[in-house]
Amino acid sequence: MDFLSYKRNFEQAIIKNGIDKSEVNIIFCEALNLSYADLLKRTEIEPKEMRLLEKVLKKRMKGCPIQKIFKRAYFFDYVFYVNKSVLCPRPETELLVEECLKFAGKDSKVLDLCTGSGAIAITLQKKSNAIVFASDVSKKALRVAKKNAKMLNSKISFIKSDMFENISKKFDIIVSNPPYIKTSDIENLDTEVKDYDPIISLDGGDDGLIFYRNIASNAKQHLSAKGKVLLEVGIGQANIVKKMLEENGFVCYIKKDYNNIDRIVVGEIL
Ligand SMILES: C[S@@+](CC[C@H](N)C(=O)[O-])C[C@H]1O[C@@H](n2cnc3c(N)ncnc32)[C@H](O)[C@@H]1O
Repeated sequence: MDFLSYKRNFEQAIIKNGIDKSEVNIIFCEALNLSYADLLKRTEIEPKEMRLLEKVLKKRMKGCPIQKIFKRAYFFDYVFYVNKSVLCPRPETELLVEECLKFAGKDSKVLDLCTGSGAIAITLQKKSNAIVFASDVSKKALRVAKKNAKMLNSKISFIKSDMFENISKKFDIIVSNPPYIKTSDIENLDTEVKDYDPIISLDGGDDGLIFYRNIASNAKQHLSAKGKVLLEVGIGQANIVKKMLEENGFVCYIKKDYNNIDRIVVGEIL
């Protein structure tokens, strides 16, 4: 069949379902394993390829995000394996890593608390050569993070821990993107998030802040002199989290994301 007519029909179905048209090229490239340049050269499509694309379309129409369909998420220069046990790493989180890279060097000891897919820990290790530890309470998430570390040839020490419970060392940097959605707001999230990211990766308790409270009161005893804590926060949380850290002896600043939203809180021990 003619490739362009098939692609046009596919695009119509995508638009009709309220999905952004820009996803079509990504879906075609991912499903057919084509580079964008190869996609542009295509003139014919095989029945086998159409069957595959129909399956993808069905999943996408049910709300499954592209990353979870293909089990691949792009973060910095790397491709991470993702499945239903981990949150898909978000573009905002790249800013958190960028901020960490301003401080992390070859001999820095870094802890990525709540590591999920391992995107933060692995990217930091690869970009800075720092000594990186990564922890999560979820055994399934840690399995994914370990798989990613192996795939990307990154040496990380993994720890299964409920926040700081099993963490005994001291670090120069503690970085975290913890769950930060208010429990009562979870049911109002988009299907793509609430049905495909694990609840444990989203639920930040009644006010969305339980993990920040934990970090603010425990981070100091796990940091070396001049140690830093870098946290991603949800909309409207930055000033509250900054205050929590300040009350625990940190000097802080806030960084905005690409949408001008206060997104990262950085604290340094006074
Ligand atoms: C928002 S996700 C962040 C994942 C990853 N760091 C990222 O930025 O893409 C939060 C992670 O916190 C983990 N988590 C939830 N409760 C935890 C706890 N009590 N202790 C440690 N990790 C926890 C979840 O399993 C999940 O992987």
